[in-house]
Amino acid sequence: MTSTNNVIRMGVVGAGAIAQRGILPHLSLPDVQDRVRLQAVCDPVPGRAEAAAQKFGVTRAFMTYEELLEHGDVDAISICSPIGLHFEQGKRALEAGKHIHFNKTMTTTVAEATALIDLARVKGLKIVASPGEVLRPHVQQIKRMIAAGVIGTPVWTICGAAFGRYHEDEIFRKGDDVLSNVDPSWYFRKPGGGPLYDMTVYVLHGLTSVLGPAKRVTALSGTRIKEREFRGMMMPTDADDNTLMLLDYGDNLFSMVYGTAAGNLPTGGPAFFGTGGTIMGAKLNGEPFDYPGKETADLPNGHISWTLPHVVGEHRNLGEMHVYEDVMQLVDWVRDGKATPVTAEHARHVIDIIESAYRSAETGRVQDLMTTF
Ligand SMILES: NC(=O)c1ccc[n+]([C@@H]2O[C@H](COP(=O)([O-])OP(=O)(O)OC[C@H]3O[C@@H](n4cnc5c(N)ncnc54)[C@H](O)[C@@H]3O)[C@@H](O)[C@H]2O)c1
Repeated sequence: MTSTNNVIRMGVVGAGAIAQRGILPHLSLPDVQDRVRLQAVCDPVPGRAEAAAQKFGVTRAFMTYEELLEHGDVDAISICSPIGLHFEQGKRALEAGKHIHFNKTMTTTVAEATALIDLARVKGLKIVASPGEVLRPHVQQIKRMIAAGVIGTPVWTICGAAFGRYHEDEIFRKGDDVLSNVDPSWYFRKPGGGPLYDMTVYVLHGLTSVLGPAKRVTALSGTRIKEREFRGMMMPTDADDNTLMLLDYGDNLFSMVYGTAAGNLPTGGPAFFGTGGTIMGAKLNGEPFDYPGKETADLPNGHISWTLPHVVGEHRNLGEMHVYEDVMQLVDWVRDGKATPVTAEHARHVIDIIESAYRSAETGRVQDLMTTF
């Protein structure tokens, strides 16, 4: 189901940080109008959807998601709401016949992910689940280098991400108007809060893009910071913000992965250690390695996301380029029928790792991962 001229009519669900900094600015640029059109936006905060629609030239604005699905005339949606809402919203979109781009993380459990994957198949609909780390040329280069033996036998890897005060201090949230006064407290609450679903999800997608699916996980996890401050208000937290996990890929190849309240390794990306060398971030044994498009990323003011296929022209001056890339993966797939490597099955495997890490911490037992991609 698409509009007759094969332009995908996109609905944007939630008009907070990622919608306003990522999806809406990119999809309102002239160069994509032949492929995708901003058709509708919804947000329950009074006035936010209308204000966003006016600012970015979106055809319709709604306060409820139900109205967007019923009256929005959309072919596809990008789910830009808090993570704990993604499953229910995704299910309703599929039931209403809409293709979906999920901002990370698609769901919080494997059972939910499987329900969506199965429903999409039955309905003949497409799901693209961010983050599309698999698309990044330097990630593919690391995969090729390891397969070619440049670090000898890979032995272990380490990577992760820390919250810090990223969401409390996002410049975007500092204004007083309805568009920029956006409360981030859900990032610290269950379900869906915490650094694993928010940030570590990127490195887990990158890691598994290189090494393939993991087989087992064990972890320690809990909530270290009991309340956080945003614009003078104290926010109680109950989502785990201090998780250290170990992954096993089989044949005694292991990863250490963290999602913590504070403290990042200075490696600038995952570190892969082997018997013959080390890859850290975009360096092999301390020297930058080549990958397709590196000359673009290395330009003055260049960015690693400039190597993504749709990130061209004016898109390079906007934020959240990788999220725009993932939306365009869905747009192309719906229009041309050419499947993307940014799959719901890969997202489900990463969700399996996160959910199993929490279960391992609760039970004190190693968990076998049940999914692959
Ligand atoms: N902020 C970032 O840097 C960033 C980057 C990439 C991806 N993401 C992802 O984008 C998604 C949204 O994150 P965010 O930072 O934009 O959050 P946010 O809190 O800034 O915005 C969420 C918006 O959703 C709205 N909302 C709440 N309930 C809703 C409902 N039932 N239906 C529709 N909208 C509803 C809120 O009113 C708010 O405007 C998450 O999946 C997140 O992981 C965020």
